[in-house]
Amino acid sequence: MHKVLITGGAGFIGSSFVRLLLDEVPACKVVNFDNLTYAGNLDNLAGLDDAHHRFVRGDIANRDEVLAALELETDAVINFAAESHVDRSIASADEFIRTNVLGTQVLLDAARERRVKRFVQISTDEVMGSLSEDENGFFTEESPFAPNSPYAASKAAAEHLVRAAHHTFGLDVVITRCGNNYGPRQFPEKFLPLIVANAMNDEPIPVYGDGLNIRDWIYVDDHCRAILAILEKGKAGGAKPSNGTAQILSGLTAPAAGPIAISMPSNTGLRSARNESNDHRRRRFGGAGNDPVLLDSGRSSHCVGSSRPRYLE
Ligand SMILES: NC(=O)c1ccc[n+]([C@@H]2O[C@H](COP(=O)([O-])OP(=O)(O)OC[C@H]3O[C@@H](n4cnc5c(N)ncnc54)[C@H](O)[C@@H]3O)[C@@H](O)[C@H]2O)c1
Repeated sequence: MHKVLITGGAGFIGSSFVRLLLDEVPACKVVNFDNLTYAGNLDNLAGLDDAHHRFVRGDIANRDEVLAALELETDAVINFAAESHVDRSIASADEFIRTNVLGTQVLLDAARERRVKRFVQISTDEVMGSLSEDENGFFTEESPFAPNSPYAASKAAAEHLVRAAHHTFGLDVVITRCGNNYGPRQFPEKFLPLIVANAMNDEPIPVYGDGLNIRDWIYVDDHCRAILAILEKGKAGGAKPSNGTAQILSGLTAPAAGPIAISMPSNTGLRSARNESNDHRRRRFGGAGNDPVLLDSGRSSHCVGSSRPRYLE
């Protein structure tokens, strides 16, 4: 893995992934392509080594800008770039369709043109909607699409385009569907930064709807480690659950067998009232540990029997 183009790498998860990739794969050269919307912040990239990380300001929905940044035979494109806030999509869906749907298609076309070796689409569990109150309900990779917000619908549409690029053109693609992330550098409008900031400032903590809705959470670095594992080691035959911790990915299959949709569970089971669309009830993945824990104990160092999570056998 030498040449990687990461889109949305100035945002919350993308910037964590860039840091992880450069730590774990020192020879890697990253082009970080981001148009710095309200959610992108160059401060998120402070301290990165210019010899291995090049920031390019550009729009994933702009073909010329994407092609100018994407070198021939790049090893991987990892598409984090998105409009990502559910509430904003309810206020206006236009940018969500443009970036999340059109932008993904532009990237797929460019990836084919530049003979990119692997395309990773960072999707979301929200494409599968919500589970009922049933405590035993889980999502699996086979769960049907049931997006409940314009944001989720735009991410579902993008997944279809990624799948089509594989089936029509043979592009090597992987799709991941993660749950809610928390951790450093998250934009303050998101739920956990908001409640932490309010608590520190002695301000009321918002509870939306009836306060009974439940969300599951994963620490951002754990999500990024899973993405790195998928990028490097996704292989035929399916990865087995690792060690009973929540960093379990099931259903990995070879790119040749079709596009891979991988659902990632929460690793904390942390529960909170939802602050976004109230139509969500619960999203869970099979195999996840779901006992409520403290925020900072959801980190990877707390995995059973390992100093870091294992994703694949
Ligand atoms: N945050 C979560 O809990 C979560 C959970 C599951 C999946 N995801 C997915 O992970 C990805 C990253 O999420 P995040 O929370 O880091 O988002 P974010 O909003 O913090 O960052 C998005 C980044 O994309 C950039 N961007 C937006 N439109 C762009 C465009 N047209 N061209 C280039 N760059 C553009 C922004 O400037 C920003 O840096 C998204 O695809 C999101 O759907 C997020």
